[in-house]
Amino acid sequence: MKRYAAYIKPYLSAFLLAPLLMLTEVFGEILLPKFMSMIINNGVADRDTGYIIRMGIIMVLTAIVMAAGGIGGAYFSAKASICFTSDLRDALFAKVQNFSFKNIDQYSTGSLVTRLTNDVQQVQNVTMMGLRLLFRAPGMLIGALIMAFLMNAKLALVILIVIPFLSIAIVTIMVKAFPRFTLMQKKIDKLNSGIQEALTNVRVIKSFVREDYEEEKFQTMNQDLKDSSLNAMKIVIATMPIMMFAMNVTTLAVVWYGGNIIIAGNMQVGDLTAFTTYIVQILMSLMMLSMVLLQSSRAIASVKRISEVLDTEIDLTDENASRKDLKVTEGKVEFKDVAFSYSNEGGEKILEHINFTAEPGKVLGIIGTTGSGKTSLVQLIPRLYDVTEGQVLVDGVDVREYSLKNLRDGVGMVLQKNVLFSGTIDENLRWGNEEASEEEVRNAAKAAQADGFVTSFTNGYDSDLGQGGSNVSGGQKQRLCIARALLKKPKILILDDSTSAVDTATEAKIRESFSTTLKDTTKIIIAQRIGSVESADKIIVLDDGRIIGMGTHEELMKNCEAYQEIYYSQRDREKEVSAS
Ligand SMILES: Nc1ncnc2c1ncn2[C@@H]1O[C@H](COP(=O)(O)OP(=O)(O)OP(=O)(O)O)[C@@H](O)[C@H]1O
Ligand SMILES: [Mg+2]
Repeated sequence: MKRYAAYIKPYLSAFLLAPLLMLTEVFGEILLPKFMSMIINNGVADRDTGYIIRMGIIMVLTAIVMAAGGIGGAYFSAKASICFTSDLRDALFAKVQNFSFKNIDQYSTGSLVTRLTNDVQQVQNVTMMGLRLLFRAPGMLIGALIMAFLMNAKLALVILIVIPFLSIAIVTIMVKAFPRFTLMQKKIDKLNSGIQEALTNVRVIKSFVREDYEEEKFQTMNQDLKDSSLNAMKIVIATMPIMMFAMNVTTLAVVWYGGNIIIAGNMQVGDLTAFTTYIVQILMSLMMLSMVLLQSSRAIASVKRISEVLDTEIDLTDENASRKDLKVTEGKVEFKDVAFSYSNEGGEKILEHINFTAEPGKVLGIIGTTGSGKTSLVQLIPRLYDVTEGQVLVDGVDVREYSLKNLRDGVGMVLQKNVLFSGTIDENLRWGNEEASEEEVRNAAKAAQADGFVTSFTNGYDSDLGQGGSNVSGGQKQRLCIARALLKKPKILILDDSTSAVDTATEAKIRESFSTTLKDTTKIIIAQRIGSVESADKIIVLDDGRIIGMGTHEELMKNCEAYQEIYYSQRDREKEVSAS
């Protein structure tokens, strides 16, 4: 709650003005029936046109003041709720941007999208409604009750009988509605995740001709959402009719009982008219209150989901780093008896007893079967994840002692699952370094063997890329990703299987250009093909999370059986391919 106060504070005046201005409506609504009864009792009964006109003018003026207050109240409640939730959205987005990889693993993208859009919207709706009705509904209830009692206390007792019944009904509805709303938000989550996945992967779906399957999957999720929404709405829709029924019965009771009082000569006709209006107002205000409460129960479910994101503890920060001003200068990487597991609670160790050093200016190759932990290993260098045991050192300093910015600035990493963003090629490359000159951009592209195909495009570097770089080939995309990382001029360059879609000749050219453009950089290259790492100064062979061989190609060919196996199987395959 304290956190939300901070978001409300900048708009406090709007938050206060909105309900206060709405109070003018309350006064108007309480006074108008009274004026009306005065016109009927005095003006109409005595045929006093002057009195009717005078009272009429007062009523018009009251109505004008009411309207002005109503407009002001509506304006400020809209302003307060819209501004406050806009800031809340900003904060949520910033928080998610700060998430570590591990934090991101916790939520599905769809769930985060729902929380940032739909859930925030729920909060906005209920804030707007709440501000308008906060004083108005209780004000009208109390005001109308007082007026009713002042007019005729005996008659007013009728209402007191109705109120407890209605309150019980409202509370029951709320208690029942809350879990149903929570479930409904979850279903929206699921639907959004499904849509997200199906739309971003529409090409895969089409190539596997799985449209029908996906449609069916979607229909099930949609049906689920429909059912849970209907389930929640069933309760909500009951509220209005119950209220209306109560209102009509009470009005009837009042008119019947009031009629008898008038016949007995103890009350004037005008008073009964006003009285029925007050009854309607009392029940209306109860109805408004119940609506606010009902919407709140929906919003509370949303607030919980928003708080969950805001409360997520970012498990990977540089708050306790002792060398925050230190920058990566050499690029020496050392692993000291590193063990790593994706889950905190003693989960399966993906890496164990990892010891090696990668020297500046040298190339370190990493090879191993799929799932052997290559990606997991290199992710520890820029602290995308933290080690479970042991230490990763850069320039002799534990990576946890650097500020994340300085550490990651020093490391250029081309992820295995890499993406480009919508925008021009130039914009995408400059992502690595916004201040790069045109020449630097070109040089990086040249080194990554991307300049050739980029300049062959009609618009060259200003060519637009589709979402995720969908309109360039796989190999072209990989080369652009490498160029982007090169533009950072990193001290440590990590390529995680980044040339898998590039032909061997081009790959060799990229490697060659590294030896000139990145002379002093530590280069760590993960590859599937032995050819990609053959010339490396040192090669690590990884198997099931352990290093089973380390040395140059020649050394490994002599003393590492697993390496030889990979070598011969790949060579045989190449022969088969060239023979066929
Ligand atoms: N985010 C994650 N959460 C939990 N487990 C993971 C995660 N990423 C990978 N793993 C597991 O860690 C193990 C090593 O995966 P990793 O991606 O490091 O292998 P790899 O050697 O890079 O494989 P490939 O050659 O296919 O890229 C695998 O068993 C995988 O299931
Ligand atoms: Mg991998």
